[in-house]
Amino acid sequence: MSRPGHYHRHQLILHWMTVLVVIMQYLFNGAMQRAYATGLETGVFPLDGSALMHAVGGSLILVFMLWRLTLRFTHGTPPPPDSEPGWMQVVSRGTHWAFYAVLLAMPLTGMTAVLTLEPVWGTAHEWLRIALLVLIVMHVSGALLHAFRKDSDAHRRMLRADPPQTPATGPGTRR
Ligand code: HEM
Ligand code: HEM
Repeated sequence: MSRPGHYHRHQLILHWMTVLVVIMQYLFNGAMQRAYATGLETGVFPLDGSALMHAVGGSLILVFMLWRLTLRFTHGTPPPPDSEPGWMQVVSRGTHWAFYAVLLAMPLTGMTAVLTLEPVWGTAHEWLRIALLVLIVMHVSGALLHAFRKDSDAHRRMLRADPPQTPATGPGTRR
């Protein structure tokens, strides 16, 4: 379990690796879009190296998210800071779970789009891209809000890990 106020260091590493790969996915998707359009037109998905990079990056995110989900259940997560109003705790927890849903759905819709060459999966993938952007804006605004509040250090939770030797602690974790 995480010590109250701290994430496990594996949770930190996976958080920042996910952020990095998500940024890459947004920056590099043009080749995948072109390859998919060709696939829809001709019925054959062309083997393109840059498009493959998008598929590999996305699949990596799928692995990270499944791993993170496992860590949430094995290590728990720190409880919300006491200074945080109830509504903010609900929004923050909801955003975290929505990230899991969207970041599992994105690779799955992308893979299905490529494998079936059905436009509906490409469209679903595009809508999820917007949902993910909304979540990122909400999440980063929340982190910045904490950074400007003197009574909260929640924004540092993703920078400072549990000491590795910390023994498991019982209550005070949330899922
Ligand atoms: C979390 C992981 C992923 C993210 C964040 C992501 C992000 C994106 C973004 C931002 C676009 C551009 C959409 C647009 O502007 O129209 C895109 C397009 C696309 N991606 Fe992904 N992607 C991910 C995973 C994957 C995977 C694993 C595959 C396939 C193996 C894939 C296949 C595609 C396809 C086929 C398109 C073109 C869709 C279309 O033009 O309708 N993506 N992706
Ligand atoms: C693609 C972008 C991002 C995604 C998908 C993401 C996802 C998540 C998720 C799911 C959690 C919950 C903990 C967990 O399950 O591991 C979390 C926590 C956190 N993230 Fe992010 N994050 C992103 C970007 C950022 C950025 C840019 C910052 C810094 C400005 C940040 C700061 C934090 C902090 C401080 C927490 C701990 C919040 C708390 O415990 O109340 N995240 N993030």
